[in-house]
Amino acid sequence: MEKRTNSPYPSIDRPVMALVGVVLVIGTALFMWSDRAHDWRYYQMEFTRMVAEQFGEEKAADVPTGLQQIWVADLERADRCTTCHQAISWKGFEKAEHPYRTHPAAPLKTHQVEDFGCTSCHGGQGWAIDTAAAHGQVAHWEEPLLSRSLGEDYTLAGDKNALMQMNCNTCHRYDRETAGATAINLAKRLVNEKGCRACHVINGFGGTIGPDLTEVGEKAPEQYDFSRLSGQKTAFAWHVAHFKDPRALAEGTVMPNFNFSTEQAQALSMLALSWRRHDVPARYLAGAPRIDPRSPEELAAEEAMKTGPGRWFVDTGCFVCHSISALGVKSPAQIGPDLSNAVEDVQSRFGVTIDAFLANPTGTMSVVLSRQIILTPEQKKTAVEKLREAFAEYQRQRASAENPTRTQ
Ligand code: HEC
Ligand code: HEC
Ligand code: HEC
Ligand code: HEC
Ligand code: HEC
Repeated sequence: MEKRTNSPYPSIDRPVMALVGVVLVIGTALFMWSDRAHDWRYYQMEFTRMVAEQFGEEKAADVPTGLQQIWVADLERADRCTTCHQAISWKGFEKAEHPYRTHPAAPLKTHQVEDFGCTSCHGGQGWAIDTAAAHGQVAHWEEPLLSRSLGEDYTLAGDKNALMQMNCNTCHRYDRETAGATAINLAKRLVNEKGCRACHVINGFGGTIGPDLTEVGEKAPEQYDFSRLSGQKTAFAWHVAHFKDPRALAEGTVMPNFNFSTEQAQALSMLALSWRRHDVPARYLAGAPRIDPRSPEELAAEEAMKTGPGRWFVDTGCFVCHSISALGVKSPAQIGPDLSNAVEDVQSRFGVTIDAFLANPTGTMSVVLSRQIILTPEQKKTAVEKLREAFAEYQRQRASAENPTRTQ
């Protein structure tokens, strides 16, 4: 053999090559072993057995084997959930254990699996093929399965499976009501009844005293101050506690305590967390128009008030939070007191005249008048005049109510 080197030591090429060969063989064996060990093979085998038992061997031969995937290009989702959850569109397994159970029919009738996949509603990690990873119970996966078990962990007061509705609302955000999303519907009703838009922009309109909530669900966990929160340190827990008592979490905030029940606070938290930047294509957005519609009654009532004696309060925006019932102005939210008797009330509550109060307001009004409704000294004078007019009307109405005969 030709000698290629002058080195006195034996060449090490051959042992190295031998070692590489052995490592490759072991690696391949390990890979095959770990691949065989995936649970999904077991679930597929078991499901095939169940089909054979119920419908015969011939049907069982039709059960697809190997990795299954639903690819929805528009939603950028490749969901392999059906690798294990094979029974989804089979009839006859309505009572079987997961993952062998038939899917409830209603949601998939309006949302075909081919167009929606699974994770758009359920969350989870679509391409994963092991149970924990697929269900998203792993580090750094931001979309866990919004399941009944997670609902139990979060001690939901109502339907334990309600967390999934956060995902429904990525597409159904502009619906006033979505059948099947009871918690979200409750929260949307509360947002309207309580007049959150007096202080917050939501979906494009509202006040500026509090932060814009349109994308509040995008806030990362690191952006929350959990220092005043006992118990679970999650965004969900933070919002629930904040809704129950805003001041306990955000010192000195002017957000009112609405005395929400646990169920209401949880529903509102789900709604707030569902408000994310939605990058779903237009055809996946249910409901038109793409703004929160105001009902014809609401618009008509506002129009009527604009032409009545209280129009200044409507035009200036005070009516967003205050009724002035003496002048026929009714606030949808009623966050502040009725201003009909403010002239007298301010004197007794704050010990100052109405002029002094508006010149130097305290509490919520100091935020309102510095952030949301900026009035010039001239306009403040007008405000005082209007409040005095309202008070005069209030006294006249009260007098005639006490002595109905005198007005005859
Ligand atoms: C490797 C197999 C496997 C894959 C892949 C898988 N699952 Fe599951 N799934 C299971 C098993 C087993 C159960 C029942 C036990 C459990 O809850 O962990 C289950 C239960 C569930 C439940 C009920 C959970 C509850 O807490 O009520 C839902 C919902 C679910 N899976 C959705 C999904 C979705 C969505 C995907 C795709 C992102 C998925 N699964 C992928 C095996 C799988
Ligand atoms: C349009 C939204 C939607 C899509 C898409 C969807 N599901 Fe569901 N899924 C639901 C709803 C709603 C329920 C019923 C929840 C309930 O009963 O409270 C449900 C129930 C389930 C359950 C039973 C959960 C339980 O707690 O008992 C499983 C498992 C499941 N789905 C898996 C899947 C898989 C796998 C896919 C994809 C092939 C899928 N789903 C696609 C909305 C959806
Ligand atoms: C990826 C977007 C998307 C998700 C997620 C989604 N939907 Fe839908 N949904 C739609 C679209 C699009 C329609 C068809 C609406 C239309 O034709 O105007 C629809 C239709 C419906 C309908 C029929 C009534 C109607 O408005 O036309 C109901 C009820 C419904 N969805 C409830 C739900 C519930 C409950 C969930 C969560 C479990 C959910 N949706 C999740 C996009 C979505
Ligand atoms: C009088 C004004 C006011 C009203 C009415 C009000 N809020 Fe707030 N809200 C605030 C202010 C100010 C903050 C910021 C300080 C804090 O966290 O409390 C805030 C904070 C929030 C936050 C946290 C935002 C974030 O970035 O973390 C949410 C969510 C919220 N409000 C929702 C609501 C909802 C829902 C309603 C109606 C039920 C409502 N608010 C009514 C003033 C208001
Ligand atoms: C975002 C909601 C909001 C808006 C808009 C608003 N207010 Fe207020 N206002 C309040 C709240 C809440 C209080 C109660 C404050 C407190 O007790 O500290 C209040 C209190 C007052 C008071 C004291 C009333 C009393 O009986 O003690 C006056 C006067 C007043 N507002 C006038 C106005 C005027 C005038 C405007 C329009 C230029 C206006 N407010 C707009 C929320 C608002």
